Amino acid sequence: MAIVPPVKSQGIKTKLVDWIKSSTEDQKYERWVEPFMGTGVVGFNIRPKKALMCDSNPHLIKFYNGIKEGEITSKQVKKFLTEEGQKLLKSNGEYYYELRNRFNEQGESLDFLFLSRSCFNGMMRFNRKGGFNVPFCKKPNRFAQALVTKITNQVKNVSKIIELGDYTFKHQDFKETLTEVRESDLVYSDPPYIGRHVDYFDSWSEEEELMLNKGLIDSKAKYVLSTWLSNKYRINDYIFSIWNDSYISTKEHFYHVGGKEANRNSVNEALISNVELKNSIPTESMKSKIENGESQLTSEEKEYQIPVQLTIKLKEELDRTKYIRP
Ligand SMILES: C[S@@+](CC[C@H](N)C(=O)[O-])C[C@H]1O[C@@H](n2cnc3c(N)ncnc32)[C@H](O)[C@@H]1O
Repeated sequence: MAIVPPVKSQGIKTKLVDWIKSSTEDQKYERWVEPFMGTGVVGFNIRPKKALMCDSNPHLIKFYNGIKEGEITSKQVKKFLTEEGQKLLKSNGEYYYELRNRFNEQGESLDFLFLSRSCFNGMMRFNRKGGFNVPFCKKPNRFAQALVTKITNQVKNVSKIIELGDYTFKHQDFKETLTEVRESDLVYSDPPYIGRHVDYFDSWSEEEELMLNKGLIDSKAKYVLSTWLSNKYRINDYIFSIWNDSYISTKEHFYHVGGKEANRNSVNEALISNVELKNSIPTESMKSKIENGESQLTSEEKEYQIPVQLTIKLKEELDRTKYIRP
C-alpha cells in the first residue's frame, strides 16, 4: 500500500515515488539519507531500516519528531481536527486566519497540520519572517469526518513506519547533512528545482546546486538526485554541465496548473545518479541523443510512442535552444 503523508507541499513526489522506488531497489546501502525530505513521502514509501531525514523547514521536522516521540498520536489528531474543524465551519472559514496567526506566534505542530490540510492547494509557503502565508482553500467544511479519518490514518501509517525503523529527523541545511554522510549511505536529494520558479522560502541558486554536487561527490556515497530534464519550453542544461558524467533515467510527468484540464502541462522528470539505476543511461549518451535528434525532441508538435527515455513535445514557435533540431 502506498503511504501518503499527512502534510502536503508543492513539489511532493507522491506520483513519482513508484518510479523512484523501482529505480533504486537494486541498490545496497546501510542508511538512506534525505537532505531535503519535504513531506517525507519518498523515504516513507521506500521504508529503509535506517534513515536520516533532514530539511531546512523547522515545522516539518518538528512534526515528524513529534510523531516519533509519541507527542503526536492519531487519536489526538482526530480530536484536534474534529474540534478545530467545527470552529472553521461555524465561522464560515474565518477561523482559518485566527489559527494561522496562532501558528505564526506559537509554531504548534497540530496547527501546522491543520493549515497544511486547509490552505489553498496544499501549498507550503512562508514570508521573509518565517510566517506561514498561504490563504484559505475557501471550503469551510474542509474537515468533514471523511477527511479527518483519512488524515488520522495517514498519521497512523507514518507512525508505524517510524516506530519500526531507525529514523532520525533533523532540522538543518543540506550542507550540514552532507558533512554527516558516510560512504555506505545512499543519499536521495530532492532540492528545489534549479532554473524553475521558486519563492523566498524555497529559493535555490546555481551556487547551491554546485555545492550539492561537490558535497555528494566528496562523500563517496551513492547518490540519486531528482531534477527536471525538460518542459515544453526548455531543457535543464545543468544536467549536462554540473551533473555530467552521471547516469540519467527519465519519466514524463503531467501536472495541472490551477486544477484545470486545459492547463495540463508535462515535464520530463529526471533521476541523476553516480550509479547505474534501472533503465538509466549515461548523461553523455542522453546529450548525444538530444543533439542528434534521437531523443524525440522535435520542433514539431508530436507525441511519440517510444517507450525509451524520452517523449518530449515541443511546439514549433517555442524558444529554440541549441538542443533542438533546426
Ligand atoms: C522539492 S521539496 C522536497 C519534496 C519531497 N521529496 C517530497 O516529496 O515531499 C524541497 C525541500 O527542500 C527544502 N529545502 C530548501 N532549501 C533547503 C536547504 N538549503 N537545506 C535543506 N533543505 C532545504 C524545502 O524546505 C523543501 O521541503
